[in-house]
Amino acid sequence: MAKQKVGLLFGGCSGEHEVSITSARAIASALEQDDNQTKYEILPVYIDKTGKWQPSNLARQVLDSGEPLLLTEERATVANEDDSSLTVTGFSSLTPAGQNFSYSEIDVWFPILHGPNGEDGTVQGLLSLMNVPFVGSGVLGSALGMDKIAMKMAFAQAGLPQVKYVAVNRSQVYSSPCVFPKLCNDIEAQLDYPCFVKPANLGSSVGIAKVRSRDELEEALDNAASYDRRIVVEAGVTAREVECAVLGNDNPKVSVPGEITFDSDFYDYETKYTKGAAQLHIPVDLPNAVTSQIQEMAIEAFLAVDAAGLARVDFFYLEETEEVFINEINTFPGFTSTSMYPRLWAHSGVSFPQLVDRLIKLAVERYNESKS
Ligand SMILES: Nc1ncnc2c1ncn2[C@@H]1O[C@H](COP(=O)(O)OP(=O)(O)O)[C@@H](O)[C@H]1O
Ligand SMILES: [Mg+2]
Repeated sequence: MAKQKVGLLFGGCSGEHEVSITSARAIASALEQDDNQTKYEILPVYIDKTGKWQPSNLARQVLDSGEPLLLTEERATVANEDDSSLTVTGFSSLTPAGQNFSYSEIDVWFPILHGPNGEDGTVQGLLSLMNVPFVGSGVLGSALGMDKIAMKMAFAQAGLPQVKYVAVNRSQVYSSPCVFPKLCNDIEAQLDYPCFVKPANLGSSVGIAKVRSRDELEEALDNAASYDRRIVVEAGVTAREVECAVLGNDNPKVSVPGEITFDSDFYDYETKYTKGAAQLHIPVDLPNAVTSQIQEMAIEAFLAVDAAGLARVDFFYLEETEEVFINEINTFPGFTSTSMYPRLWAHSGVSFPQLVDRLIKLAVERYNESKS
């Protein structure tokens, strides 16, 4: 049987460009393992940091080296004209070096893009328009999973418990000196300190601040507004951070829960990306009833935003009161070999190569269903 051609789409215009490359390398390697190598052929497509799509050899070079390319227009042109000048070694199931391919050859796309311009429905819209199967959520699930305000509304509608929050628009922050104090008064009337100020559409904790006073609130709002038009301010909780992996389409399955621990004040950018700063624990020591509740809520959250294929759902567990609040859903969670999502599945009996194979099958199933 002919191998299925998998368009591995990675890189992207977001702060998570490097993570995407690492995830893509792990997925490419999984596509070469076990039965996968007889089923799939990898056609890599790299989106560089300027947003330019780089198929073929340049993409292979990035996949092979793990290093991002920041091309000037000039270098991009030269590279496109003379692809064969790039020497590529490594992943043997890639099309032979020097040979270009056309996007129309791709049977199924695997967009491994995190954050804005990748996990937010933009790429999913393009792939839907191209009428091709792709791994992961569609436009709606991706967009709802990205925007923290829209996500909270969908969760509230589904009856999922979450912390109190106030939605803010940038125009309120940049308003006249008499409106901004009123906005802060309103927030203070609704939420106690500490609270968390977040740009609604980022990820990786970028632009997030834990604030303990009026001064800090004002500064954090100003900072968040520099990142995003939409901002959310949330009541802060002291809680354990527990995450579950979900896999499937309309009848998704849920993994065992995992926990993240760290010494920093919260799970901020530095803690996320400094080796050894955070620890992953699988399985988690939780009362059985709490584990079941978290697993049920993970499925409800997945369905509430109309996610597909995969998602990681993150929770706050307040040990003293045994309360569980949903924090967020990530429709394209980190997918490196050490990431929580594949590790949760490994503990639930699904290996990394099996997971990648399953996701491709789910993409094709969903596509075929939408056509029937
Ligand atoms: N309401 C909150 N109470 C306590 N900690 C929070 C709260 N909101 C966020 N945090 C902390 O900030 C981290 C990042 O917030 P999160 O909403 O998950 O943003 P991101 O999408 O960037 O991961 C969380 O993992 C947690 O450590
Ligand atoms: Mg998070």
